[in-house]
Amino acid sequence: MRLWLLPVLACVFAQAGAPAWAADAPPGASSCTGCHASVKIADSVIPHIAGRKAAEIVAAMGAYRSGAWPSSVMGRIAKGFDDRQTAAIAAWFAARPE
Ligand code: HEC
Repeated sequence: MRLWLLPVLACVFAQAGAPAWAADAPPGASSCTGCHASVKIADSVIPHIAGRKAAEIVAAMGAYRSGAWPSSVMGRIAKGFDDRQTAAIAAWFAARPE
Protein backbone atom coordinates (compact mmCIF):
# COMPACT_ATOMS: atom_id res chain seq x y z
CA MET A 1 0.00 0.00 0.00
CA ARG A 2 1.24 3.48 -0.74
CA LEU A 3 2.11 5.38 2.42
CA TRP A 4 0.49 8.63 1.37
CA LEU A 5 -2.83 6.81 1.42
CA LEU A 6 -2.68 6.45 5.20
CA PRO A 7 -3.78 9.98 6.09
CA VAL A 8 -6.42 9.79 3.37
CA LEU A 9 -7.83 6.63 4.89
CA ALA A 10 -7.60 8.18 8.34
CA CYS A 11 -9.75 11.03 7.02
CA VAL A 12 -12.34 8.71 5.64
CA PHE A 13 -12.70 6.93 8.95
CA ALA A 14 -12.53 10.13 10.96
CA GLN A 15 -15.37 11.63 8.98
CA ALA A 16 -17.74 8.70 9.23
CA GLY A 17 -20.79 9.97 11.01
CA ALA A 18 -19.55 13.57 11.28
CA PRO A 19 -22.17 16.15 10.33
CA ALA A 20 -21.72 18.28 7.24
CA TRP A 21 -20.43 21.64 8.48
CA ALA A 22 -19.18 23.19 5.29
CA ALA A 23 -22.38 24.55 3.79
CA ASP A 24 -21.13 28.18 3.82
CA ALA A 25 -17.54 27.35 2.92
CA PRO A 26 -15.57 29.25 0.24
CA PRO A 27 -14.50 27.35 -2.89
CA GLY A 28 -11.86 24.77 -2.07
CA ALA A 29 -12.56 24.56 1.66
CA SER A 30 -14.58 21.40 1.27
CA SER A 31 -11.43 19.72 -0.03
CA CYS A 32 -9.85 20.41 3.38
CA THR A 33 -12.69 19.42 5.66
CA GLY A 34 -12.58 15.81 4.54
CA CYS A 35 -9.33 15.54 6.47
CA HIS A 36 -9.41 18.52 8.84
CA ALA A 37 -12.62 17.66 10.60
CA SER A 38 -14.86 19.90 12.66
CA VAL A 39 -14.26 17.83 15.75
CA LYS A 40 -10.94 17.29 17.46
CA ILE A 41 -9.89 13.68 17.11
CA ALA A 42 -7.44 12.35 19.67
CA ASP A 43 -4.53 10.41 18.15
CA SER A 44 -5.19 11.77 14.67
CA VAL A 45 -2.15 12.36 12.47
CA ILE A 46 -4.08 15.24 10.99
CA PRO A 47 -3.81 18.49 12.93
CA HIS A 48 -7.02 20.21 14.01
CA ILE A 49 -7.14 23.62 12.32
CA ALA A 50 -10.67 24.88 13.01
CA GLY A 51 -10.48 28.04 15.10
CA ARG A 52 -6.77 28.50 14.31
CA LYS A 53 -5.64 32.06 13.41
CA ALA A 54 -6.03 32.73 9.68
CA ALA A 55 -2.47 34.11 9.47
CA GLU A 56 -1.11 30.84 10.89
CA ILE A 57 -3.00 28.78 8.33
CA VAL A 58 -1.83 31.02 5.48
CA ALA A 59 1.76 30.79 6.72
CA ALA A 60 1.57 27.00 6.98
CA MET A 61 0.12 26.70 3.48
CA GLY A 62 2.93 28.89 2.11
CA ALA A 63 5.57 26.80 3.88
CA TYR A 64 4.07 23.57 2.53
CA ARG A 65 3.79 25.01 -0.97
CA SER A 66 7.43 26.15 -1.05
CA GLY A 67 8.63 22.91 0.51
CA ALA A 68 10.02 24.75 3.57
CA TRP A 69 7.88 22.46 5.74
CA PRO A 70 8.15 18.76 5.03
CA SER A 71 4.78 17.07 4.66
CA SER A 72 3.14 13.88 3.54
CA VAL A 73 0.19 15.37 1.68
CA MET A 74 0.01 19.11 2.36
CA GLY A 75 2.78 20.07 -0.08
CA ARG A 76 0.76 18.77 -2.98
CA ILE A 77 -2.52 20.13 -1.65
CA ALA A 78 -1.13 23.61 -0.93
CA LYS A 79 0.11 23.90 -4.53
CA GLY A 80 -3.49 23.61 -5.69
CA PHE A 81 -4.52 26.98 -4.23
CA ASP A 82 -3.34 30.51 -4.99
CA ASP A 83 -2.85 33.19 -2.33
CA ARG A 84 -6.36 34.59 -2.66
CA GLN A 85 -8.03 31.17 -2.38
CA THR A 86 -5.79 30.22 0.53
CA ALA A 87 -6.65 33.44 2.37
CA ALA A 88 -10.39 32.83 1.93
CA ILE A 89 -10.13 29.24 3.14
CA ALA A 90 -7.94 30.28 6.10
CA ALA A 91 -10.42 32.99 7.13
CA TRP A 92 -13.24 30.48 6.99
CA PHE A 93 -11.40 27.95 9.16
CA ALA A 94 -10.44 30.71 11.61
CA ALA A 95 -14.12 31.55 12.02
CA ARG A 96 -15.08 27.95 12.89
CA PRO A 97 -15.50 26.99 16.52
CA GLU A 98 -12.33 25.33 17.76
C1 HEC B 1 -5.61 14.11 2.52
C2 HEC B 1 -5.88 14.74 3.79
C3 HEC B 1 -5.71 16.27 3.88
C4 HEC B 1 -6.35 17.23 3.15
C5 HEC B 1 -7.34 17.04 2.01
C6 HEC B 1 -5.90 18.50 3.67
N1 HEC B 1 -5.01 18.31 4.69
FE1 HEC B 1 -4.03 19.75 5.74
N2 HEC B 1 -2.93 18.34 6.70
C7 HEC B 1 -3.04 16.98 6.49
C8 HEC B 1 -1.94 16.30 7.16
C9 HEC B 1 -1.70 14.79 7.19
C10 HEC B 1 -1.16 17.31 7.77
C11 HEC B 1 0.18 17.15 8.52
C12 HEC B 1 1.28 17.50 7.50
C13 HEC B 1 1.44 16.45 6.41
O1 HEC B 1 1.85 15.34 6.70
O2 HEC B 1 1.14 16.74 5.21
C14 HEC B 1 -1.84 18.58 7.49
C15 HEC B 1 -1.43 19.81 7.97
C16 HEC B 1 -2.09 21.01 7.74
C17 HEC B 1 -1.78 22.29 8.37
C18 HEC B 1 -0.70 22.53 9.44
C19 HEC B 1 -1.33 22.52 10.79
C20 HEC B 1 -0.29 22.46 11.87
O3 HEC B 1 -0.55 22.98 12.95
O4 HEC B 1 0.78 21.87 11.67
C21 HEC B 1 -2.63 23.22 7.84
C22 HEC B 1 -2.69 24.71 8.18
C23 HEC B 1 -3.46 22.53 6.87
N3 HEC B 1 -3.12 21.20 6.85
C24 HEC B 1 -4.44 23.15 6.12
C25 HEC B 1 -5.17 22.52 5.11
C26 HEC B 1 -6.04 23.20 4.19
C27 HEC B 1 -6.31 24.70 4.21
C28 HEC B 1 -6.54 22.24 3.35
C29 HEC B 1 -7.45 22.44 2.14
C30 HEC B 1 -6.95 23.33 1.11
C31 HEC B 1 -6.00 20.96 3.77
N4 HEC B 1 -5.17 21.17 4.83
C32 HEC B 1 -6.31 19.74 3.18
C33 HEC B 1 -4.02 16.34 5.77
C34 HEC B 1 -4.85 16.96 4.84
